[in-house]
Amino acid sequence: MSAQGDFKKITTKTLQLMKDRGEKIGALTAYDFITAKVMDAAGVDLILVGDSLGNVVQGHETTLPVTMDDIVYHTKAVTRGVERAMVVADMPFMSYQLNVDEAFRNAGRIMKETLAGAVKLEGGRRVADRVWRVTEAGIPVMGHIGLTPQSIHQFGSYKQRGSSESERKEILEDAKILEEAGAFAVVLEKIPKELAKEVTERLKIPTIGIGAGAGCDGQILVTPDMLGMNKEFHPRFVRHYARLADECDRAFRNYLNDVKQLKFPTDEESY
Ligand code: KIV
Repeated sequence: MSAQGDFKKITTKTLQLMKDRGEKIGALTAYDFITAKVMDAAGVDLILVGDSLGNVVQGHETTLPVTMDDIVYHTKAVTRGVERAMVVADMPFMSYQLNVDEAFRNAGRIMKETLAGAVKLEGGRRVADRVWRVTEAGIPVMGHIGLTPQSIHQFGSYKQRGSSESERKEILEDAKILEEAGAFAVVLEKIPKELAKEVTERLKIPTIGIGAGAGCDGQILVTPDMLGMNKEFHPRFVRHYARLADECDRAFRNYLNDVKQLKFPTDEESY
């Protein structure tokens, strides 16, 4: 049976069961109530309130300006629209980097105020102590390795990671460290598909890939990207499942035309 009909509410246990059964996990990002509601009804298993909202909602070049208040605001909107999916809230830049206590306090605030089911943070060994402490308090944590956009100024580009032998080794080790620290799943972003498959086979916990090939336990895409909202942004790992930019453009122009030519509203559309 498909995951859609099989599970009433997706939890970390469900995701683990899906990996164990070899059932793929379908994840997407959402930032608002109505999108999350439609997504949840369609059967999406995991909804991430990603700090990609800095790019696709706020129009920033990077995810760095996103604040705790932004994540709390958007996650609250998303959880109001969701009954079944697991909602994961991204911990924004500088909400967990400073020290373990800061990470703990901010993860706690997200859980308390938003009703999310888990938090996500970027990095491997350097955040293992945060993952351990937050998990120990009963807050599920999702890891994120490979391309980690919050470190863009350190890396200097959004290029694929894990191509050199040293990066490959580091990613394999980081994945294992995150699992041992208590992470319930790990996002693998923009790494070679062979490496993602190897990580997936070595870990007991599920891997969720973005630009990491078909060997992961699940896939995630940034929703406005997969809906074709930004025609200029089309990296090879994004498949357009709709052409919403064109569709919206058509709707806006038709509406404008109708208003200016007195075709909208009609008497039937008035009180
Ligand atoms: O912020 C985000 O949307 C993410 C996904 C790309 C995994 O971290």
